[in-house]
Amino acid sequence: MKILGIESSCDETAVSVVEDGRKILSNTILSQIDIHQLYGGVVPEIAARAHCEAISGLAKKAIREAGGLETIEAIAVTNAPGLIGALLVGMNFAKSLAFSAGKPLVPVHHLKGHVAANYITHPDLTPPFTALIASGGHSHIVEVLDYTTYKIIGHTRDDAAGEAFDKAARVLGLGYPGGAKMEELAKTGDPTAISFPKVHFPDSPYDFSFSGVKTAVINYIHTKKQTQTAYSAPDVAAAFTEAVCGVLTEKAVLAAEMSGCGKLVLAGGVGANSFLREGLENACRQKGIRLYLPQKALCGDNGAMIASQGYYEYLAGKTAGYDLNAYATMSIENA
Ligand code: KG4
Ligand code: ZN
Repeated sequence: MKILGIESSCDETAVSVVEDGRKILSNTILSQIDIHQLYGGVVPEIAARAHCEAISGLAKKAIREAGGLETIEAIAVTNAPGLIGALLVGMNFAKSLAFSAGKPLVPVHHLKGHVAANYITHPDLTPPFTALIASGGHSHIVEVLDYTTYKIIGHTRDDAAGEAFDKAARVLGLGYPGGAKMEELAKTGDPTAISFPKVHFPDSPYDFSFSGVKTAVINYIHTKKQTQTAYSAPDVAAAFTEAVCGVLTEKAVLAAEMSGCGKLVLAGGVGANSFLREGLENACRQKGIRLYLPQKALCGDNGAMIASQGYYEYLAGKTAGYDLNAYATMSIENA
């Protein structure tokens, strides 16, 4: 069964067709990074307008490459969470397509989509499992009870991991988005050269806090600049990466160990980070936990992950009417 997936929650317009939730038949994407780089971050109204310009062409290509609209069973679309203007572009396009072609409309929670990228990478992966979701807007540890039922067991109390990466990168003058550039810089740095804080909550072992490490990096750089003292940017990047990825790894692996499922899945844009991937690999090997890493190309926002999750939502009967709305925030438990 072929499902069309549409993603426009942030700064990537993406349309893809996936078969039976696992096999990519077409995958089109247009990143707006070049536009937003000028402003040092995503400008919501510009993002919405850019989605508007790109979406029809991408959909046409994705549908053609997958064998035509008549072969597609349902239209899946991200309806939450994300930038509201950006979401509305993808959603209204999906509604119009579903209406005109007489196909069911399937709303998809963006973070469930990130997890579903793993169903494409690992055809053998089935719930239940524990998942670490680390993106630009969210950092969660969840139990995936079945394909559509999620339980949050930990979340960030302030900044998301990706957000912390972007802000630390900004103060290092690396530009937006900073995650991948921080990773490159960290490769030549010494993670033990500086000690940045790792936050733990005694009463909530699976919750995160990344605003402290972000502020520590900002203060470190500002102090060095004010006192005109030299510092090593690669060491800052490496120590920051160690602090953030260390905490993500520790808590996610503990959660997977406690869940009893013995399976841990990584998801979200930060999931492309090789230090995080290696850290999880080492920790999971030691604990006897089976680790599933999404292919790097599917870590960031894409349409295939929405089509994959859309397939499972559709099988569970979760279709929507034409009065479907978009939401800037929505708990993954309520989607
Ligand atoms: O999941 P995603 O593509 O979009 C959201 O749903 O937010 O995540 C984007 C985030 C950005 O903050 C970006 O800097 C970060 O993922 N990111 C990385 C890497 N690649 C992207 N962070 C660390 N290391 C990377 N290699
Ligand atoms: Zn995302």
